[in-house]
Amino acid sequence: MTTRSPVIVALDFPTAAQALELARQLSPQDCRLKIGKELFTQAGPALVEAVQDLGFDVFLDLKFHDIPNTVAAAVAAAARMGVWMVNVHASGGRKMMMAAKEALLPFEKPPLLIGVTILTSLSDDELFEIGYMAGAGTMVEHLAALANNCGLDGVVCSAQEAEVIRQSQGHAFKLITPGIRLPENEKDDQTRVLTPESAIAAGSDYLVIGRPITRSPNPKAALSQILARLSFIA
Ligand code: C5P
Repeated sequence: MTTRSPVIVALDFPTAAQALELARQLSPQDCRLKIGKELFTQAGPALVEAVQDLGFDVFLDLKFHDIPNTVAAAVAAAARMGVWMVNVHASGGRKMMMAAKEALLPFEKPPLLIGVTILTSLSDDELFEIGYMAGAGTMVEHLAALANNCGLDGVVCSAQEAEVIRQSQGHAFKLITPGIRLPENEKDDQTRVLTPESAIAAGSDYLVIGRPITRSPNPKAALSQILARLSFIA
């Protein structure tokens, strides 16, 4: 099922049972689903398949970062699972990103290959500590340009960074942004948040939204409210 909905719901649950319980309350016409490290390590490809069997496109958020040969093989394994989107760390470098891209060439319907630039959890001080002297803003722009140059389909970025990357990397380059909240939501551990409509206005293509939907007493209604703000009609 392909949907025009820009919402990707983050299935941040410790078990397959909890993830599937949430998935069953949503419709593949309204969103896609993201499976990250915790859930995939716990529940593996069987859960990806179960979610796909419910009709959902899956973003496999494992942020691969290794030598080119290893990342290429991992990305191909993700493609064989039939996922819709997969990601790698752009700081893995040109050879790694190009090997990942090349590994997807044999697939008729390859997943979108997305780069992670700088983790939003890292402060400038922490970046300096690991030797990234340029600071987050500059590094994000630099790595987004490199990812685009290596043939990746887009990057994960904060909505605040979206506008600049959209301008420098053009319209075809996909921007995937977490840190989305409605004014009435808790910010949780996110520091810089944007509403769904301001993230889209800033140039985001896809919004990764977790707790405002998954922790809601009525996840379907919470998603509908977000889609209504975006004037999305399935
Ligand atoms: O619950 P919440 O909406 O904050 O979930 C956001 C999702 O996006 C989580 O799965 C989180 O790991 C992910 N994410 C993020 N910030 C990033 C990259 C990914 O919050 N910079």
